[in-house]
Amino acid sequence: MEPKKILITGGLWYIGSHTAVLFSQAGYDIVLLDNLSNTHKDEVLSSLKILTNKDIPFVEGDVRDYDFLDQLFEKEQFDWVIHFAAKKAVGESCSDPFLYYDNNISWTITLLEIMDKHNVKNLIFSSSATVYDAEKNIPPFTETDRLNTTNPYGTTKLVMEFLLKDMAQHRNFEVICLRYFNPIGAHHSGLLGENPKGIPTNLLPFILRVAKKEIEKITVFWDDYPTPDWTCIRDYIHIEDLAQAHLQSYEYLYHKKEIKANSEEEITTPSFEVFNIWTWNWKSVKEMLSIAETVVGEPINFEIGERRDWDVASSVANPIKAKQVLGWEPKKTIVEAVEDAWNFYNNHKEENK
Ligand code: WQD
Repeated sequence: MEPKKILITGGLWYIGSHTAVLFSQAGYDIVLLDNLSNTHKDEVLSSLKILTNKDIPFVEGDVRDYDFLDQLFEKEQFDWVIHFAAKKAVGESCSDPFLYYDNNISWTITLLEIMDKHNVKNLIFSSSATVYDAEKNIPPFTETDRLNTTNPYGTTKLVMEFLLKDMAQHRNFEVICLRYFNPIGAHHSGLLGENPKGIPTNLLPFILRVAKKEIEKITVFWDDYPTPDWTCIRDYIHIEDLAQAHLQSYEYLYHKKEIKANSEEEITTPSFEVFNIWTWNWKSVKEMLSIAETVVGEPINFEIGERRDWDVASSVANPIKAKQVLGWEPKKTIVEAVEDAWNFYNNHKEENK
């Protein structure tokens, strides 16, 4: 494959850094861009160096900064972009929607303008299953199901998808959107993992802090949902499986473009494609608590609290298209994800403050 230069936005964040390891180990030329708002720069860069034996180029900056991005694209001559940079806490988006509209949508508009200006037309986008209409669709959702959102975070992801669809239809972009929901776990080496700044909002990091006795107990947000054990069901995916999905999406799109470029007749494959990246391993909150108790070897202290008004009973999607078209399917179990997260947490307890 002809060498291509790939920009990974949000490259030091949880999903971006795990994706960077795979692309670097596969020999791809990548540059990581991050504004450091939700990551620990030195710790992640040193882990990336150990895991890839390379000093992966990192640029600190904000995707909203037009001039900064313009100069970066001028200097680096990128061919591809993998776009992770976004805020992703659903609850925070409900209390501050404009922060999410500004960060997620404006960032993407600026990025697309610069990509278009520099003729960089290949993009893999970290989208979300939150764009599916959980009320009107019967789970598991498929890629052609009805779209609708119930929170500002989801709205930004849906708008970002619509922007990318426009680019594909009117500016010759080639786009892949990956829709997923709950990435969990850590790199099997214990060197990379989910290490947000401040108090975590996601289930598993919170559980692990309770297991470490740093937090007294976890609140299970309500136990009266229409599910077998009355707690919410989610599809939890190992972060390394998710990173692998991005690598296989890149290689699929790269080969698709190669075939298009080398074929005599006009090939009209869609230039905007969506894939559910899911595991079929749906678990309820109580099931996750019980897996965590098995892994850490002691009970996890919890109480039942009020529901979060943005939570849905279950959000599950069908990943068959990703298997058929990308050849992707998850290799790791949820127990391995919890074990890897626990291992990472014990290696990095200090930095988790
Ligand atoms: C999971 C379940 C909570 C914490 C995720 C990602 C977000 C976005 C949407 C992709 C829910 C319950 C949690 C706690 C609890 N991803 N819970 N007590 O809300 O599914 O959001 O999907 O676009 O980035 O985070 O994830 O981990 O917050 O919650 O009972 O202290 O755990 O009610 O059912 P969520 P989560």
